[in-house]
Parts: sequence; C-alpha cells; structure tokens
Amino acid sequence: MARLFFALWPDDHTRKQLFDVALQFKDDDLRLVKKSNLHMTLEFLGEVSAEDQQGLIEKAGKIAEESFDIELTRVGFWKKPKILFIGTTRVPVALQQLVKSIRKLVKQQGLKPDTREYKPHVTVARKAKKVVVPLETINIKWTADRFALVVSESTTNGIVYRVLESWPLEP
Ligand code: 2AM
Repeated sequence: MARLFFALWPDDHTRKQLFDVALQFKDDDLRLVKKSNLHMTLEFLGEVSAEDQQGLIEKAGKIAEESFDIELTRVGFWKKPKILFIGTTRVPVALQQLVKSIRKLVKQQGLKPDTREYKPHVTVARKAKKVVVPLETINIKWTADRFALVVSESTTNGIVYRVLESWPLEP
C-alpha cells in the first residue's frame, strides 16, 4: 500500500515564490512545509494498493484536459486543520474540469473520490493558530501544464512527497 494523491507540482520558480511567502510567516509556533514538499493537491487518495496504483496511472494517462494559469493572491487560515495556505480568489474553469476528470477516474478504478467542494490551496504551514497578514501583496502566477500522481513517504527526514508519474495538460 502507498499513500497517494494527485497534485499540481510547481516548477522551481513557482516553488521558490511560494516558499518566500511562507518564510514571511516564520514563527516558533508554526511548522513551515518544506520547500521541496510544496504542491497543490487535486485529489487525495489515501492508502492505495499496487494494483489500484497501476490502474490509476493507466487511466490518468488518458486524461485530456487543458493547461491553465492560476493567480495565487491570498493567504488563508483554516482553523480546524490549523493550516496556513496560499490560495486564489479566481478558480480557473480548467482546474475545476481537471479535478472533475480525476474524481471520475478514481471512481472508475473502484475507489472513493472526494465529494466535497474542491478548494484549491497550497498548504504552507501547519500548527497555525491564527490568520496572518503578508508583508507584501502576493501575486504568484502559476502556469499549470502538467499534473502528477504523488506518493507520501515517511523517512528519517520526515514526510517526503515524490512524484511517481506526471502527465501533460493540453496547450
Ligand atoms: P492539505 O494541504 O490541505 O493538508 C498530502 O498529504 C496532501 O494531501 C496534502 O496536500 C493534504 O492536504 C492532502 N490531504 C491529506 N489528508 C487528507 C484528507 N484526509 N483529505 C483530503 N486531503 C488530504
């Protein structure tokens, strides 16, 4: 079994921009997400068997959705999961469409897709207690031209996310 999720995996420049924003909130109480782990979840799957993993990979390869730009302009705080995240006020239609297609393939594989409303976000810190205000306006433009299947691994260095496979979105 492996702990899997579909995600948008940022390019190095976007990753740096996301982490630079996160650094503004550095605080003893907060646990910043490691730079190399920053991502936007599309669909969380949880523990998946090797057989289902193979099935998901085959089905994901058939997805034909469009690439899109996301403008990340806000920092948010969710009280219950105690996270700080970077998000958007404008969810691209193509992103909604991609999540819809992924949920469909998850179902076709016989797994349970998330049925909640999709809320795009990049978690940048955990154990957050309150909302924080960024020092400067945030405007990160992320061009999403691929999506990925990612595995979450527990290592001596903590949790590490590794891209298993990724697929292009159409130009
Ligand atoms: P988060 O960023 O909101 O914490 C890997 O753990 C990714 O999957 C994280 O981005 C995390 O979302 C998401 N995730 C973890 N557990 C989840 C759950 N039970 N339901 C939905 N998403 C989850």
